[in-house]
Amino acid sequence: DSFHNFLAELPKCEHHLHLEGCLSPSLTFKLAAKNNIKLPSKEKKPEYESVETLEKRYEHFDNLQDFLDCYYLALDAVITKEDFEMLGWEYFTTAHADGVKHAEVFFDPQSHTDRGIPFATVVEGFNAACERAEKELGITSQLIMCFLRHLPASKAATTMQSAIDGGYFNQQQGKDRVIAGLGLDSSEVGFRPELFKEQYVLGKELGLHRTAHGGEEGDPSYISGALDSLHCERIDHGIKLTQDPELLARIVKEEILLTVCPLSNVCLQAVNEVGEVPIRKFLQEGVKFSINSDDPAYFGGYILENYCAVQKAFNLSKEEWKVIVQNSINGSWTGQQRKDELL
Ligand code: HPA
Ligand code: ZN
Repeated sequence: DSFHNFLAELPKCEHHLHLEGCLSPSLTFKLAAKNNIKLPSKEKKPEYESVETLEKRYEHFDNLQDFLDCYYLALDAVITKEDFEMLGWEYFTTAHADGVKHAEVFFDPQSHTDRGIPFATVVEGFNAACERAEKELGITSQLIMCFLRHLPASKAATTMQSAIDGGYFNQQQGKDRVIAGLGLDSSEVGFRPELFKEQYVLGKELGLHRTAHGGEEGDPSYISGALDSLHCERIDHGIKLTQDPELLARIVKEEILLTVCPLSNVCLQAVNEVGEVPIRKFLQEGVKFSINSDDPAYFGGYILENYCAVQKAFNLSKEEWKVIVQNSINGSWTGQQRKDELL
């Protein structure tokens, strides 16, 4: 209907998208066949029988960890620079169809370097997709390098050093940095943000942007910890903020953007239904947020499906959508000139 067209045409910015989360069962099998490997490479799992059985496996996740176990396993199929570029391109073509104009996308170098893939292969493959997206689709983008919080902080230091040594944090000739910011993802509860303070302080000194997953499954102290110790400018998910009104007031005052992922929250059982994501509350209280797809190959939809699911649950007005879109543009890590083009 006409409201669907209205949502489809909104100039979208995406801030919470894991490129590895675009690895669909069909692309997994395609890459595994190309690379001549049998999945999963370590143990026998019946769901890797076929594309269909893997799709079936992805229909239900008990929680974040249950999803992550699948997510890391499938990555064994992704090996060469061309594979990473193909995975990135899978994202950008679909995002383009959904009306995404600017994307700040996560990648997890450690889930590849830990299985012997060189850091440069990962970054250069994903970056090639970003450059192609700008040239062919007009989508501007940035890469955000995430640390896996279930790994020791010493491993994060090694990852940081790889990015520094490769020059990926440096301004490129006539262009931006290849990697614009730092993120923190994977298993949240028990892996506190404070563990990664040293790398974030270094990142801040290097002029990098900073965000971290927080308040997806963890309590609000995971959000305040990310603000206080990691100097985060954004919080990824942040839905548990409603449990702490004082912290909510601080988020409003400091204009911290939350990158909310409604379909992800339902699939990982952080909420029972989209209507439980505190969209209405955030709008009423003046909490700024963007709406994002997180891991679209796993959670049943790219960004437009998330917009539509929010509309179905909350029946927002066009004015409310304009606020959401304006906050998404203004909360992006791009120059004023690009923001003005999108506003
Ligand atoms: N949370 C934590 N880690 C992740 C996610 C998420 O939603 N997606 C991919 N890695
Ligand atoms: Zn995420």
